Amino acid sequence: MDTKKKDIFAGTVTVAEAGGLKGEITVPGDKSISHRSVILGAIADGTTEIDGFLQGEDNFSTLKAFRSMGVACHQVGARLTITGSGIDGLKEPDDVIDAGNSGTTARLLMGLLSAQSFFTVLTGDSSLRKRPMKRVVAPLVKMGASISGRNGGALLPLAITGKRLKGITYSTPVASAQLKSAILLAGLYAEGETIVKEPEKSRDHTERMLRHFGADISVDGTSVRVTPARRLTGCRIRVPGDISSAAFFMVGAMITPGSDLVLRNVGTNPTRTGIIHILEKMGASMEVISTSEISGETVSDIRVRSSMLNGCEISGAELLPAIDEFPIICVAAALASGTTTISGAAELRIKESDRVAVMSEVLTNVGVKNTEKDDGIIIEGSGGNSIRGGQVNSYGDHRIAMSMAMAGLRSSNGVVIAGAESVDVSFPGFFGHLAKVRV
Ligand code: S3P
Repeated sequence: MDTKKKDIFAGTVTVAEAGGLKGEITVPGDKSISHRSVILGAIADGTTEIDGFLQGEDNFSTLKAFRSMGVACHQVGARLTITGSGIDGLKEPDDVIDAGNSGTTARLLMGLLSAQSFFTVLTGDSSLRKRPMKRVVAPLVKMGASISGRNGGALLPLAITGKRLKGITYSTPVASAQLKSAILLAGLYAEGETIVKEPEKSRDHTERMLRHFGADISVDGTSVRVTPARRLTGCRIRVPGDISSAAFFMVGAMITPGSDLVLRNVGTNPTRTGIIHILEKMGASMEVISTSEISGETVSDIRVRSSMLNGCEISGAELLPAIDEFPIICVAAALASGTTTISGAAELRIKESDRVAVMSEVLTNVGVKNTEKDDGIIIEGSGGNSIRGGQVNSYGDHRIAMSMAMAGLRSSNGVVIAGAESVDVSFPGFFGHLAKVRV
């Protein structure tokens, strides 16, 4: 079957109990790195050749935005060639830029667009138009940006009139790579140096890639400093597989008896490997079998086998390098023995959906006892027994849909997922990959 077609028309999908996940999977490219490769390639001099570009809807939103600003992008499958416009070469788009469901597109572009010599309006889909933008607007306005929009400039659509910016030293109230990256991108154009300090270190793909493109950037603990760039140099980028996509299969294999699965070419940047540490803490049987370096990022092959997981306490600090894995960690907890308490997860309430509330609802729907907390959730594990199953709504959130698909693999009645087409946001071909390895 044409798996791409199947995903697009998935709508409601039922995932039944499986006898294991076996074989090998190479997950698609990292979403965060794919976004950044387009952004920096677009403002670099010369050509940037990207291999492993994620063909997810979020990344297409970024690509479309730069095409609308006059950047030549040639995409054939996962190979993308960008002819850079140079640091000052972007053109005013003749329509609103629509970031779709993508917070990364919206927030990183806010930083970049604030420093251009033209006017733009940025919007997104109904989920993104509810997500807070003030945390990004505030430091940009301090740098001299002119941004206005609904709710005092806190919500999309936002109108941005490019200005000459000045560098700042800014301590962010939360560890957020989108916020940090927006300020750093604005800093490339500002007068003087820009320093961003975070309470804890968020994912550092922007810093790594800026270095790869030749920017003057230095990192000292949780502090990042960038100086204005006269030019960035186009380069070759090989995008590693997304550990956040691999995470679904890691947990799927662990909770399903009879599994032995190898995940190839998974990005294992230390700011992203929280899922490995959390699953190991729960008693998972997994092995990082080989590691190498590509385009300034670490990649590994990971072997995962069925494991009896134990419930545990997971703190906000442990969750930060696994921020997008909250839904699938909840599924691991649902099959574990004992109770799992996740705390410090308030940020999860402002993702593509309120992931704390939605996970609590969908777990209840499939027969898993849980209690929602302001900053997290308490989950009673099944002790390794199959859960009941039932019908759930993903609320259009790709990570909820994929997590509940994995829960279906260990459910006596199967899990019926409404809104399953949302997987295309970050993992086109997800159900095809699942069909290939399920026994
Ligand atoms: C991302 C940063 C994280 C993450 C998101 C991607 C990025 O968001 O949840 O999926 O690419 O910078 P926050 O910056 O809001 O934590």
